[in-house]
Amino acid sequence: MTESTIKVALLGAGTVGSQVARILTEDRDELAQRIGGTPELIGIAVRSVDTPRDYKAADALYTTDAESLIDRADVVIELTGGLEPAKTRILHALAAVKHVVSGNKALIAAHGAELMTAARQSGAQFSFEAAVAGAIPILRPLRDSLAGDHITRVLGIMNGTTNFMLDAMDARGADFDEVLAEAQRLGYAEADPTADVEGHDAAAKAAIVASLAFHSEFHIDDVHCTGISDITADDVTAAANDGYVIKLLSVCERDGEGVNIRVNPALIPRSHPLASVHDAYNAVFVESRDAGELMFYGPGAGGAPTASAVMGDFVSLARRSVLGGPGVPDYSYLGLAATSLSNVVSRYTVGLEVRDQLGVLAKIANVFAEHGVSIETMHQAKHREREDTAGDHATIRIVTHKTSNEDLRSTIAELTSLPTVYNVTSVIQVEG
Ligand code: HSE
Repeated sequence: MTESTIKVALLGAGTVGSQVARILTEDRDELAQRIGGTPELIGIAVRSVDTPRDYKAADALYTTDAESLIDRADVVIELTGGLEPAKTRILHALAAVKHVVSGNKALIAAHGAELMTAARQSGAQFSFEAAVAGAIPILRPLRDSLAGDHITRVLGIMNGTTNFMLDAMDARGADFDEVLAEAQRLGYAEADPTADVEGHDAAAKAAIVASLAFHSEFHIDDVHCTGISDITADDVTAAANDGYVIKLLSVCERDGEGVNIRVNPALIPRSHPLASVHDAYNAVFVESRDAGELMFYGPGAGGAPTASAVMGDFVSLARRSVLGGPGVPDYSYLGLAATSLSNVVSRYTVGLEVRDQLGVLAKIANVFAEHGVSIETMHQAKHREREDTAGDHATIRIVTHKTSNEDLRSTIAELTSLPTVYNVTSVIQVEG
């Protein structure tokens, strides 16, 4: 890198890439002041030069030849997404001591350690703040601001689409299909909403957060993941009646000698700070030995907000490079293992549809007791669809005291086998 000019190759010109191109172009002089060297956008690698873009840079900048663009750059900003060719291109850039900024959560959740190692070996810097929770500064605080502390737990709402959906269900009593259609209409959810709704997007982010928070190497496969597609309007209403709200939570916490990482719908008390995260916003709640409780809140997606995180990484690494000095150090020296769900201790709410006859309630309570699961509250109601009939259905909603996931699972398995239990309608964790 020369002292006066920092040549930037931008890979990708989608929603975020277009905004990064805009900022690099329009704010060039101010960025130069902040960095101590002038950033020069030397090219934008795209699949098709003719695609309409949110921001149109000079025509001559667009190219389909990413490899030669990388070879001419000092810094590569990778915003293409997906595993390949992004991984090969980043490894190629790092090996040639070109600093890299990436927002590619899927790639970093799958191969983050390998990319970090490649950066360390070559002396290039590699930053990826935009990969988790859009504009929210969370990775740098974990790697840098909290580097002298001991993080014990990270609890977050890391997917805006599902938060929008659950928030709408909570606010209006709307059902799942209605809010999913609304999320798709507003452009939050894709036509195929699987990655958001089934928790895969949040799981990738949780793996990255856990790696940084606990100085170890975790991948998306280490995350126990359950999405929100089974959450019904009845679950949301029942939670509200008990003073809770359902959120899709990402939880990363120390578990003995390892770390438990999970994404699942959970009830949280309305008084918890995460309960007040509405619409498509994200928030990450960090608990640490010395700092105590910290919450980071903001837009978790969108072109300009995510570009803000990309630009923060860019300015930071460009400034460090101009001034000299090492990048942020490696994160996996502790080498902790990911742990299973069995020992996770939590409260749960269990919804049951049962035969309404003498002794059924006692039998159900007994199953919980036999498995060592203590009941905190129990509500029984007539089954809604059958109120006007003589019907023999009742719905029961049980909230347990703290219990291990293993005991809860064996309880559910036995309940499911009872002829008087027609259906286990929901099993949701209660957090906080
Ligand atoms: N689809 C994600 C969300 C945004 O809904 O939060 C990108 O990670």
